Amino acid sequence: MQEKAWSREELEKALQEAKRRDMSYSSGRILSSMCTAPHQAGVEAFLRFLDTNLGDPGLFPGTRELERRAVAEIASLLGSGSARGFIVSGGTEANITALWVARELSGVTKPEVVLPETAHFSFEKAARMLRLRLVYAGVHGDSSVDVDEVRRRLSERTVAVVGIAGNTEYGGVDDIEALSELASEQGIYLHVDAAFGGFVLPFLRELGYRVRRFDFSLPGVCSITVDPHKMGLAPVPAGCILFRNEEFLESLQVESPYLSMPVQCTLLGTRSGASAAAVFAVLKSMGREGYRRVVEECMRNTLLLREELLRLGFRVREPWMNILVFEHPEVDAVVELRRRGWAVSRTRAGEARVVLMPHVKREHVEELVEVLREIAP
Ligand SMILES: Cc1ncc(COP(=O)(O)O)c(C=O)c1O
Repeated sequence: MQEKAWSREELEKALQEAKRRDMSYSSGRILSSMCTAPHQAGVEAFLRFLDTNLGDPGLFPGTRELERRAVAEIASLLGSGSARGFIVSGGTEANITALWVARELSGVTKPEVVLPETAHFSFEKAARMLRLRLVYAGVHGDSSVDVDEVRRRLSERTVAVVGIAGNTEYGGVDDIEALSELASEQGIYLHVDAAFGGFVLPFLRELGYRVRRFDFSLPGVCSITVDPHKMGLAPVPAGCILFRNEEFLESLQVESPYLSMPVQCTLLGTRSGASAAAVFAVLKSMGREGYRRVVEECMRNTLLLREELLRLGFRVREPWMNILVFEHPEVDAVVELRRRGWAVSRTRAGEARVVLMPHVKREHVEELVEVLREIAP
């Protein structure tokens, strides 16, 4: 570290330089991300609660109450009046926490988790940390898991089954209803990763789309990951882990003797009250109606892009939600788009993948179509 403090000008120059190199959501060129420009109410709440620490909630009972209310709102969106949980740093922490509970409850010595091969890589992190063996089940052509294969992969060591509501690459939704039946029948813990889909599917359903059930209304579902910092429009970091009831949390309790509460149940010790306040503020500022409007617009853009891609001779996967995957028989669209400054990602199978987040407006889609027209022969 340098000896003397920098002047404000020196610091400003360095920050500006860094900002100049970053991409911005407002450009409409970020098509690879599941995050977006946060809602202003969330930004303001985040700043106001910046100094709060939910690892020591006795000092910040007001912030703790905002977290409790935010969690209850998200739980009610996902079919439960009694689920409990926390605002966490994101989908990774939420998935780790869920598998941690599943393993603690099982008492199995060489635990295994059965999950779709489309699962997010956060499960690999969870598995390494928790010493779980991951047993992958294959998926159908629509990217949803083959439930028969899940059944075949179960063993006496299985401590959890994972289903996904909105998989990262395709937005695919597993048959959680069938997984719930299977889990109930076998007495196995079922975790649903709805990190992305949790703030999309309920609104798609309200908009009249046919949507698979995936939430606590299914009796086998023990926990759900859902990320406010994705389609929930909250500032990063903000994930949420929900458990069907309070009892699931007991297995996580660690004594926290020198703090204001006797026990902690979260992976993190010191944790952001700003995130919780921001999630609360965004939920209250949006309401179901606000989210429905956002999802409607994202889907309209997704379907518009799909139409245009088909017209240009691309092969397009049928979208489950606002994620579109496509490829061209002759051109590598990912390479061509990146060369022109568009951030797009690639699926493991090599296709181009774009996420039509709320910062991607109709005019951006139209610009993108012009570029695609140039690159498609
Ligand atoms: C389905 C799913 N689960 C979990 C995660 C991990 O979330 P995070 O990056 O917030 O830790 C992602 C991230 O894209 C995801 O798509």
